[in-house]
Amino acid sequence: MRFHIITFGCQMNVHDSRWLSRALRARGWSETPEDEADVYIINTCSVRAKPERKVYSLVGRLARHQKRNPDAFCAVGGCVPQHAGQEFLDRFPFVRLVFGTDQTEEACDALERLAADPEPRLALLGFCPGLPERPPQVPADTRDTDTPGRAFVTIMQGCDNFCAYCIVPYVRGRQKSRPSKAILDECRALIDSGVREITLLGQNVNSFGLDKWGDGASFADLLGRVARLPGLERLRFTTSHPKDLDDAVIRAFGELETLAPHLHLPLQAGSDRVLKAMGRGYDMARYMRLVDALREARPDMALTTDLIVGFPGETEEDFRATCRAVEAVGYESSFSFIYSDRPGTRASRVEPKVEDQVKSDRLMRLQALQDGLTDRAYTAAVGSGAVVLVEGRARKQDAQDAVSWTGHDAHGRVVNFVHPEAGQAHDLTGRMVRVNVREAKKHSLKGEGTGESW
Ligand code: SAH
Ligand code: SF4
Ligand code: F3S
Repeated sequence: MRFHIITFGCQMNVHDSRWLSRALRARGWSETPEDEADVYIINTCSVRAKPERKVYSLVGRLARHQKRNPDAFCAVGGCVPQHAGQEFLDRFPFVRLVFGTDQTEEACDALERLAADPEPRLALLGFCPGLPERPPQVPADTRDTDTPGRAFVTIMQGCDNFCAYCIVPYVRGRQKSRPSKAILDECRALIDSGVREITLLGQNVNSFGLDKWGDGASFADLLGRVARLPGLERLRFTTSHPKDLDDAVIRAFGELETLAPHLHLPLQAGSDRVLKAMGRGYDMARYMRLVDALREARPDMALTTDLIVGFPGETEEDFRATCRAVEAVGYESSFSFIYSDRPGTRASRVEPKVEDQVKSDRLMRLQALQDGLTDRAYTAAVGSGAVVLVEGRARKQDAQDAVSWTGHDAHGRVVNFVHPEAGQAHDLTGRMVRVNVREAKKHSLKGEGTGESW
């Protein structure tokens, strides 16, 4: 069977899709471009209305492949079917499987069954007790990880916070931690297979272990154990909640050599009134104390964030407080989103809403402010040295003989560089390379490899 996967949403979804792809290939299926596939798998996100709407139009468009291949069918997985599963089955005969966020593994068996028998249509929804342990899928080649040389490892899933705007607790379920032994075993196997960088993944990594599935290890304990695994070059984690980021984790940034000096710390809003209405559990004073402590532990810390504009009731003054906060922290980059009403959330019932025009205008102003800060941070990096984990050849090649390579540095910045001794035949993918940074571009840095790589 030939399959094609389309993924929306966060790294958790990207990671689940990669797992599914490897699992299907291990069963002899092959991954193909859209036009050649028999089975379409859409891994969906419901955090905002727009990507959710796109899934419906995508299913409609993909259904046209049935003209070419009458047996073609579609599976819709991830967060959207978790609250709209039956709707897909009712609306689209082309959709023969819907599966939720706990059923990625079961989806493999179901797909095989559907491929063998054209009759059934299946719904695998609901949540399992505990985080389902999937059979390990350590890739034979590190290029088959999420990004070459770099892998994601799930440590927990779900969320108990119920921020007023957020659908995640409903679609990913309550928080469930994975046993630390399983996490460490997976990390070790990945490192043995050649992985250099690991990102620990979860909706709320700081509260790892603090649920009934915890095994006594705190997030700081886990970080220490993973960071010290021999052979690991770089460790990251995402996503952190400011309310749960504790001193032990902050200290770890100063103590653990492999822990990268980068933290994604979603602020959401800079006005205490809005933070309270969002139910975030911190105010600006607490957030700024965290920022100071992080920079004390690790002066070169790069901070990035998520921001929402136009939360119901947000005034111009509230919005300006967000802008001031963004300036005060000096984020390297941020994801800013227009508030989107999600079914079942508390904020969706709050009236009046901020007008669309006002929301778009605020988004543009915030993004312009961020562009200036990104530019400032990247310009300051010119002249410094960076260690880049190479992801492959840069999309744009310079008009020189040397090949241009691309990857991320420890701070999470994209660095494109030419490398002196690497000719066409020499592949740096998956290697760590020391680079001198020469120039700042809009969203990346440019440099030259020093010739040192490992
Ligand atoms: N803790 C989670 C958050 C997932 S949602 C994680 O990172 O795993 C990612 C981001 O989407 C949030 O930080 C928030 O900024 C944004 N978001 C969530 N719900 C939203 C909504 N209803 N409208 C607009 N943006 C939203
Ligand atoms: Fe989207 Fe959240 Fe699901 Fe990730 S966990 S895919 S961000 S709804
Ligand atoms: Fe969503 Fe807030 Fe949890 S943003 S994932 S409810 S921490």
